[in-house]
Amino acid sequence: MDEIRKGLENVIALETKIAYIDGMQGILKYRGHDINDLVNLSYDAVSYLLLRGNLPDDKELEVYSDQLKKERAISEDVLNVLTFCNFNIEAMDALRTAISYISHCDPDMDDNSSEANIRKGMRMIASFPTIVAAFYRIKSGQVPLEPDLNMSQGAYFLYMIRGTEATETEAEIIEKDFILSAEHELNPSTFATRLATSTLSDVYSAVIAGLCTLKGPLHGGARMEVMEMLDEVKSPERAGSYVADKIENHDRLMGFGHRVYKTYDPRGLIYKDLAREIADEKGNSIWFDIAESIEKAAFKEFVENKGKTIYPNVDFYSAVVYKYLEIPPRLATAVFAIGRISGWIAHCLEQYSDNRVIRPRAKFVEI
Ligand code: SDX
Repeated sequence: MDEIRKGLENVIALETKIAYIDGMQGILKYRGHDINDLVNLSYDAVSYLLLRGNLPDDKELEVYSDQLKKERAISEDVLNVLTFCNFNIEAMDALRTAISYISHCDPDMDDNSSEANIRKGMRMIASFPTIVAAFYRIKSGQVPLEPDLNMSQGAYFLYMIRGTEATETEAEIIEKDFILSAEHELNPSTFATRLATSTLSDVYSAVIAGLCTLKGPLHGGARMEVMEMLDEVKSPERAGSYVADKIENHDRLMGFGHRVYKTYDPRGLIYKDLAREIADEKGNSIWFDIAESIEKAAFKEFVENKGKTIYPNVDFYSAVVYKYLEIPPRLATAVFAIGRISGWIAHCLEQYSDNRVIRPRAKFVEI
């Protein structure tokens, strides 16, 4: 029996054509396209790339985007489910519950063919923003809005949350957030979707496994914790002592560190530019300044003082962007899921196409 790799660290579980990550150089590619190029496209173009394996031409994109927009609406029943959920339930639980209900209304539910799974995947890509926004408005005592069938995914989500149109910069930045969150190889939530898929369970069940996994604070839940950390630190001057105390107490500094990246997460670098851009548009640099002070203090503590390759990950400056977009911290992980759903679907399709049940071993130890 091979050696045990706790947390399956560096275990190569399968081959994939979807994402390429170089953790030492800080490189991320979806289907061979560098993330720095993809972030300038629309989220629809990137989700098409993930699902279909190639970037769409103009006509293909137009048809695909129209199909997605037609699937944005959710039924009165689903709104009732979300209203019924309106007790102390969080957005990720509400999203999971709504998707569970929706799956039973999907005409393709029992069809595991690739085209049926793409149709089901597109329905989830299209409706996730609607579900998250409806839940947020119900929870905050507002009426959910009728879907707009013309806006881009990013502009649509902000409109459905706020009831007013986002600025061009805001819409562009949240669209880039969805692209940056879309896919990341065998991260915990994607691995969970592939594990469920490997038993030939349905794609809705696989996505629910992904949602349940993404929620954890060591994974997608970190984004909310970083937003709360920014509030706790309050000013750039307090960042140094805050970070030193965290490390002194052996607490995790949320938004930092990564299993694969041993240098700056390439997404983190892009998010930092987006955070600076939105701060400029808002004419208020406080959140960016606090974050940058935390980053500098962490670099001193982790890299300079301890020689540890712990850098900001995808959840650090994305949290700053969310602060400026006034996305409530409690929605942060669900917003991450609005991007990640297309990566999950791509991995489910790939698993179904060349499947073997995923079943590792455990080494029994005497009690
Ligand atoms: C995501 O895998 C993906 O691709 C995930 C993701 C994606 O796109 O899907 O990139 C999204 O989940 C990003 C990570 C979000 N999580 C956080 O920000 C939570 C804080 N980060 C950590 O908990 C941690 O860095 C992990 C979970 C991200 C990675 O953990 P590992 O690889 O299991 O590393 P480890 O816990 O074994 O830590 C190794 C050492 C330890 O010190 P020693 O015991 O060796 O002395 O590094 C230290 C840890 O204490 N360390 C940290 C730290 N991260 C690692 N110390 C303080 N703060 C941190 N954030």
